[in-house]
Amino acid sequence: MSSPRVLEIGARVPVARRRDAPQRRTEWRERPVTAPTDAEQGPNVARMYDYYLGGCHNFAADRAAAEQILRIFPDTGIAAQANRHFLRRAVRHAAELGVRQFLDIGAGLPTQGNVHEIVRQVAPDSTVVYVDYDDVAVTHARRLLPADGRTTVVHGDLRRPGELLAHPDVRAAIDFDRPVAVLLVAVLHFVTDAEQPWASVARLRDATVPGSPLVVSHLTTDGAPPLPTQQGRAVYQRSSAPLVPRPHADVLRFFDGYDLVDPGLVRVAEWRPDGEPRERISHGYAGMGLRR
Ligand SMILES: C[S@@+](CC[C@H](N)C(=O)[O-])C[C@H]1O[C@@H](n2cnc3c(N)ncnc32)[C@H](O)[C@@H]1O
Repeated sequence: MSSPRVLEIGARVPVARRRDAPQRRTEWRERPVTAPTDAEQGPNVARMYDYYLGGCHNFAADRAAAEQILRIFPDTGIAAQANRHFLRRAVRHAAELGVRQFLDIGAGLPTQGNVHEIVRQVAPDSTVVYVDYDDVAVTHARRLLPADGRTTVVHGDLRRPGELLAHPDVRAAIDFDRPVAVLLVAVLHFVTDAEQPWASVARLRDATVPGSPLVVSHLTTDGAPPLPTQQGRAVYQRSSAPLVPRPHADVLRFFDGYDLVDPGLVRVAEWRPDGEPRERISHGYAGMGLRR
């Protein structure tokens, strides 16, 4: 059964009505989706996630698939919010450590509390590069994120890190001789073992200087009942990307060459909780490492 909290998060309430929504958001969250793709293409993981978060950038096929997931895992909306809260805590921590460059790969559709907004509360001069391989996410991000010269949106694929690092817009925005935080938040579980996600992360690591943070959150199979997990994976199998939840040991391997900051690789909600609403339900692990 869905808890009331889930219903609240998943409700189709225009963001303009939320008390904490900045006015600027009202414009874009209410604008109809006109991106150059169509709903008939099938469920898309970026837009399903948008639906879990209560966003408006999703089509009927996305909503239908997301509703299937919510029937299997009624806490998915809460877990998605918990993941966003982790992202915010992590980027704030990185900014407080003095990092001024952020490479957010698998950034998704713009939502409340985007990385540049959080980072600039600490360091207004920071550079943020958003990367996604999804056309809709990139189209919306380009349209909605500020044209301030320090926010860049790049179409790129985590599975091709060499191309991503060589992208002219990435090179123009980021000085790889200075620390850069690589954010891989809720994205690595869309990359199969055969696609070698550990090699991609290592390639990104090797492009950065010591002290550069790696921020990861990742769905897990640990503690998850096998049948619902199998059913959930079957839903994603029909979407734009398969779902590959991993055990703790496999997620930890992404941090090879990094020193984990306290408290290590832990359940998403347990990673350095601060004053933000603390969602106690999480479906995965989260951590931050600093490159040795
Ligand atoms: C669940 S959303 C996470 C969004 C955001 N990082 C967050 O945690 O709130 C996953 C995003 O990763 C993107 N993605 C999946 N595989 C990718 C890949 N190989 N390269 C780039 N982006 C990818 C999807 O398009 C989607 O926008």
